[in-house]
Amino acid sequence: MKIRQALWILCISLFVLSCSKSDDAVEVTAGVPSAYGAVNLTNDGFTANWTRVYRADKYLVDVATKADFSTLLPNYTALPVTALTLNVSGLTAGITYYYRVRAVRGESISVFSNAVAAEIISTGPEPTTALKSAANFNVGMIVRSNRLTGITSDIILREFDNITSEYEMKMDKMYPSKGTYDFTAVDKIVNYATDNKLNLHGHALIWHNSVPSWVTNFVGTNAEFEAMVKDYITTVVTRYKGKIKSWDVVNEAVDDGSGNPLRNSIFKQKMGDDYIKKCYQWARDADPACKLFYNDYNFASSATKRAAIFKIADDLKKDNLIDGLGAQMHISYKGPAASEIQAVVDGTVSRKLLMHFSELDIQANPDNDLTALTPERAISQKNKYKEVVKIFNAIPAANQYALTVWGMRDSESWLLSFWGHIDWPLMYNEDYSAKKAHTGFLEGLK
Ligand code: XIL
Repeated sequence: MKIRQALWILCISLFVLSCSKSDDAVEVTAGVPSAYGAVNLTNDGFTANWTRVYRADKYLVDVATKADFSTLLPNYTALPVTALTLNVSGLTAGITYYYRVRAVRGESISVFSNAVAAEIISTGPEPTTALKSAANFNVGMIVRSNRLTGITSDIILREFDNITSEYEMKMDKMYPSKGTYDFTAVDKIVNYATDNKLNLHGHALIWHNSVPSWVTNFVGTNAEFEAMVKDYITTVVTRYKGKIKSWDVVNEAVDDGSGNPLRNSIFKQKMGDDYIKKCYQWARDADPACKLFYNDYNFASSATKRAAIFKIADDLKKDNLIDGLGAQMHISYKGPAASEIQAVVDGTVSRKLLMHFSELDIQANPDNDLTALTPERAISQKNKYKEVVKIFNAIPAANQYALTVWGMRDSESWLLSFWGHIDWPLMYNEDYSAKKAHTGFLEGLK
């Protein structure tokens, strides 16, 4: 009897075992790889790379010329690769390719990774289509009174229809000593704009960083200080009435600290918190047709600063003392994000104000990790130029004032001394040829 029972138990156990699969045969699902950005971009290829998937036997790589992968390259259709990188070559310069990866583990094939775009470097010259003829809005460049000749001037006249003085229309230059104005440089710039039918944007009447020393160490009462500022604004705006069509009346009044109160400038100290309103009133009285702007930085990257700037605008708008907002746009290829830039635009448009992207430059080397502009970084920078222009281009025409770029050649950028390290934030090379950033600007208009 016991032997019979034991046999039965053995049979049942064997049956159960035969029903369950061995460990090796258990179905396993391949994890999904994540594709990284393409590296080693050259003029005919790039290196695709992706994350390791646990126990994957191999990976299948697709490369296509369309983002939806409807046009796969025959040599790169589910190409099996055991490494975590693949050199893709034989591609055409100037074209953007896309790649994606799947992992294979036994019989299991994962779903596709994210798709990555890789633009193949074109080695030839960049297109030289003039920005102003391609754009439906005013495109601006900064000027210096002693650089209004030669190739610089040729490029200004070919590409731009709006100019801003880089530093000669600031208080320390126009009002260097008590009672004595110096308009030599401004007159040159105004004449250049008038002669060449360029729009001239005035920048900047009141800025804490361009206060002449006699004003910093002002001798006199607060009332005398205020009278001096009123005289200064009235004198300058009146002198160029009808010629300077817009002014940044106050520049960078918002402090960067927490809560973003007003910056504790000499003007705030001597004239009180409503110094801003007073300055705009004097400018308005001097030239009622002149468009008055408030201009600041980190407008996109900081939501609190943005709110503080919009509050200033709302206070001025109540009394019809402001016409537009200037977002400086000293940004980098890494950010701010398009959504943050869009928030600047949306807040400006909803307030029925003009939008000026007033000082665009895009750092390619914000972390100082490069000693020369690499093709990858030039393309990242180009894409950021394109993104910014695209956002500006989509603004309703009635709200578009201008998109001004803060400098012509990389070597001339103020950022080099500001950050104290090398960068290439602008659209032209040393020999005045157009960089990829320039092509990005053009592409943003499409
Ligand atoms: C910079 C100019 O580019 C420099 O040449 C000058 O020495 C200092 O000012 N925000 C502004 C601009 O509003 O006026 C500044 O321009 C850059 C930062």
